[in-house]
Amino acid sequence: MCDLFVKDIAGHLGEEVRLKGWVRNIRSSGKLLFIIFRDGTGEIQAVAFKPELGEELFETAKKLSLESSLILKGIPRKHQKLEGEYELSITSIEVIQYAAEYPIGKKEHGPDFLLSNRHLWIRSSKQWAILRLRHRIYYAITEYLHSQGFFRFDSPILTPNACEGTTTLFELEYFDEGLAYLSQSGQLYLETGIMSLGRVYDFGPVFRAERSKTRKHLTEFWMMDAEAAFVDHEENMQIQEELIRYIIRSVLENCLPELNVLERDIDTLRKADAPFKRMTHYEAVEYLRAKGSEITHGSDLGAQDEVLLTEGSEVPIFIERWPKEIKAFYMKRDPENPSLVLGNDLIAPEGFGEIIGGSQREDDHDMLLSRMQAENMPIEPYQWFLDLRKYGSVPHSGFGVGLERLITWMSGTRHIRETIPFPRMIYRIYP
Ligand code: 4AD
Ligand code: MG
Repeated sequence: MCDLFVKDIAGHLGEEVRLKGWVRNIRSSGKLLFIIFRDGTGEIQAVAFKPELGEELFETAKKLSLESSLILKGIPRKHQKLEGEYELSITSIEVIQYAAEYPIGKKEHGPDFLLSNRHLWIRSSKQWAILRLRHRIYYAITEYLHSQGFFRFDSPILTPNACEGTTTLFELEYFDEGLAYLSQSGQLYLETGIMSLGRVYDFGPVFRAERSKTRKHLTEFWMMDAEAAFVDHEENMQIQEELIRYIIRSVLENCLPELNVLERDIDTLRKADAPFKRMTHYEAVEYLRAKGSEITHGSDLGAQDEVLLTEGSEVPIFIERWPKEIKAFYMKRDPENPSLVLGNDLIAPEGFGEIIGGSQREDDHDMLLSRMQAENMPIEPYQWFLDLRKYGSVPHSGFGVGLERLITWMSGTRHIRETIPFPRMIYRIYP
């Protein structure tokens, strides 16, 4: 008899097989018992018939509680009513553990209860689907970058300097070396990597002590930073666009069952795989003001502005060429207008907000230094970063994708906290 995963059931109709997993749900009616069985790869309805299973085993099976673990033997068949689905006729049941009364599922639960039971909640269908989508997106990003000649270059998490300003830094005492910080982005280190490998990326957790209690902010999230030598602002945006479109196609090709569980509007997602729109920050502000926003030319986009900008757009929108005062110190000045920098945000449609931040980098030593001085940054911890502009400096660009922001959009999930196994937010560190 063969051990099987639910996902492979279609190739084994009519054969006796063995499945190992958990009880998602159970009900009985007379001589029939229906177990919704799951094994991580999928779900199947398993049916036991008392005269076939025998009185004793049938009664044992009836006592199974939600989430009990078990091994089922049975024969997969086409589902009698549902086209394209399968059922298992149970021939034998071996209980591994009768689960204690399961806290989730009997009634509607509030988010706080679910988050406190996150270690169990991840088993629910919707969470299962999001986690699988997360894996696919992660995989697609890696595939795309590898195909484009990017090498993985792991940047450190403990750092002596800030990447994205000092207001959201987590700090800690580092032995006798003074304060160290948890990385906000591996970008600065990636810039060293391109001088060795040409094109590099990292993919890991980053940390921001964000005081924002919104549905888009985590204090620990995963970022993929990519960086490439001899790539300018224009090409940088092309790479971002191709990457996102590649991910959309990969998700549509591989995750339709997950998207169905999530009730994601698949057509809307499909339409986002078309040329992205572009606007300068100046144009965006003009557009927003005409629509009634009170945003001014020197200021960042608010969440509501991002919604307004993408309203009616099927594709993501690049907002580029930002006022230098509201962007990070490392962005390259715009040669056509020195008050601007060659930075871009990429805003997802359907109101999901910013998913990427990127820019061409300042590659001139003295320009960078004077920008840092103007911002009163300490120079010493960044000496290594300045060095890169002394030893064979080249034009270069990069960007950072917020993995959970991307998953939130692609899965159509309302709140970012469901897109990472264990969300960290200002008011939550458990479990
Ligand atoms: O725009 P950000 O701050 O850019 C950087 O950190 C650059 N150093 C990246 C680079 O050029 N290599 O962050 C990048 C992305 C944002 O677009 C957003 O998607 C996500 O990271 N992000 C967050 N996601 C969840 N929670 C937060 N608190 C986030 N802050 C940023
Ligand atoms: Mg940003």
